[in-house]
Amino acid sequence: MSYVFKTDGLTRRFSGFTAVNNVSIEIPEGGVRTIIGPNGAGKTTFFNLLSGLLPPSEGRIFFRDRDITALHAYQRARLGIARSFQITNIFGHLTVGENVRLAAQAVHDGKANFFFPGSRMDQVNETTERVLHDVGLWDARDARAENLSHGDQRRLEIGLVIASDPPMLLLDEPLAGMSPTETHETVDLIQRISPGRTILLVEHDIDVVMSISTTITVLQTGQILATGTPAEIRGNEAVQRAYLGELV
Ligand SMILES: Nc1ncnc2c1ncn2[C@@H]1O[C@H](COP(=O)(O)OP(=O)(O)OP(=O)(O)O)[C@@H](O)[C@H]1O
Ligand SMILES: [Mg+2]
Repeated sequence: MSYVFKTDGLTRRFSGFTAVNNVSIEIPEGGVRTIIGPNGAGKTTFFNLLSGLLPPSEGRIFFRDRDITALHAYQRARLGIARSFQITNIFGHLTVGENVRLAAQAVHDGKANFFFPGSRMDQVNETTERVLHDVGLWDARDARAENLSHGDQRRLEIGLVIASDPPMLLLDEPLAGMSPTETHETVDLIQRISPGRTILLVEHDIDVVMSISTTITVLQTGQILATGTPAEIRGNEAVQRAYLGELV
């Protein structure tokens, strides 16, 4: 089976404390691959290792057969590994449309065609429009980003990430702090942008996790407790005992 990520004995320690402990996993291409686990299980640290924000203490990381362990975050981003950060990515004083345009320009700048500068602008316009529609913010395109609701800001953040059309998306708790309506809209959004991509998701809302995930991996104290389909995870006794018991 082809995979996007493979880790081999991936370990990260923080001054003696092991946050990610000897994780060896293959994450198959495509679908929504969700990581769940109790607070402090190492989910965010695992993401930080995959995106290159943190170097591992031990172990290796492969992206589509290529060893990327030594690559910096920006080099991984160039390979198409995109992760959403917090709202700090958004320029509050600019409009929603201008924010998306900047992200689209940053991508097309890399592929600028000096002989057809007009076609480059067309591409930027096209990408900007497509992303605004995708994230459901077309009608809000002229609003200042700082005036958006929390949920809309998080959607804009996802928009900035998908402006580069990355094949691999890492979303760490994209629903945090959202109202039920915003949650519903954002789940829709994630489902709409998932075809043709692999989405790696960290999420606590177990109903959302069960409905949206292709596979679920359970992390506990830095180690993998189980991986499987939502039905397999729901039926897994060890997972029930350690984590899901009180949730489902
Ligand atoms: N930079 C750091 N320095 C020291 N300890 C850290 C650091 N980052 C994370 N940790 C510790 O590593 C463990 C795992 O943290 P991590 O943020 O990866 O957990 P998590 O599964 O994302 O939790 P949550 O569900 O609360 O977001 C925690 O005990 C945390 O305190
Ligand atoms: Mg976390």
